[in-house]
Amino acid sequence: MIVLSTTELEEVLWVEKYRPKTLTEMINQEEVVAALKRFVETKNVPNMLFAGPPGTGKTTAALALAHDLYGSNWRNYVLELNASDERGIDMVRTKLKDFARTRVSGEIPYKILILDEADSMTREAQHALRRTMEKYADITRFILICNYSSKIIEPIQSRTAVFKFRKLSDKDVAERIRYIAEKEGVNVSEDGILAIIEVCGGDLRKAINLLQSVAYMNEKIDRSIVYKTAGLVYPETVVEMIKDAFKGDFEKARKELIRALVEEGVTGGDLLQEFYRILNSDKVITLNLDDKIDLLKFISDLDFRISQGATDYLQLTALLAYIADLGNKYRNKA
Ligand SMILES: Nc1ncnc2c1ncn2[C@@H]1O[C@H](COP(=O)(O)OP(=O)(O)OP(=O)(O)O)[C@@H](O)[C@H]1O
Ligand SMILES: [Mg+2]
Repeated sequence: MIVLSTTELEEVLWVEKYRPKTLTEMINQEEVVAALKRFVETKNVPNMLFAGPPGTGKTTAALALAHDLYGSNWRNYVLELNASDERGIDMVRTKLKDFARTRVSGEIPYKILILDEADSMTREAQHALRRTMEKYADITRFILICNYSSKIIEPIQSRTAVFKFRKLSDKDVAERIRYIAEKEGVNVSEDGILAIIEVCGGDLRKAINLLQSVAYMNEKIDRSIVYKTAGLVYPETVVEMIKDAFKGDFEKARKELIRALVEEGVTGGDLLQEFYRILNSDKVITLNLDDKIDLLKFISDLDFRISQGATDYLQLTALLAYIADLGNKYRNKA
């Protein structure tokens, strides 16, 4: 196994390389950032709870706060632990306590303990944590990080300053991806950036990781390459299949299906989901209500069979045949 040091990781992984070092560099999360800056100014940091979706800057904000507060030696004052560490909660608890009870000298009389995935702790463990937090309140400040603050016990919530991180907007993610692509000399089209956003939602970590893995293998990045790399169904492929089957070109649709399954390497389940999404939206073909209900029932049967291990290709071919039949029916009526 190759073990990389933190600095080496920073060179290799773009998520690390482009992780803001200071609060000022953070994207969005304005209210949170403004409050954290005030804490830094007054050198008075309360115990805090950061809650919000993945990849929106929670860990980044905690580290940036430490950086801004302590200066370049900040790492000497900070310990980052993960509550769901596979080495077990006892190890976490021991490390946490050892760190919490040591004193630091210097201008700022306390250290910062960052506890990631605090919502993975049992209620009992959280109660023990609360006692530790109180015991060492004057020499250690805690930043607890979680996805859902509702999973944190009330006594902790009421004793911490709670900050909610919001999902980053598409615009924020697009800007950051464009910025990193430019710095790294990656040639990515606008529709490629759009695809990254579609695939990753407001999770900037996921978006940066996807950009890096796509860039690793391709000179030019566009929409279809993004979907392919993410191992996801390219919506346009499914739209084409539906159109072809519906207008009677069943063979062409079937070839597309084989290509998607074999070359794009998507799973039958994922493909079916996309069929469902598109057919349900009425954007490609419009059916009368009865036909639509029958079609969606048919899809849900296929979904069940695929989940039971039926062959993806056969099940999806049956769906294309069903759509082709519908096409026939509507053409004859017209
Ligand atoms: N608000 C942000 N501003 C700038 N960069 C961000 C922001 N949010 C996320 N990033 C980028 O995404 C990466 C992951 O962010 P971070 O580790 O802070 O996410 P998180 O909110 O802690 O997510 P998780 O809940 O998965 O731990 C960072 O290294 C950084 O590159
Ligand atoms: Mg995090």
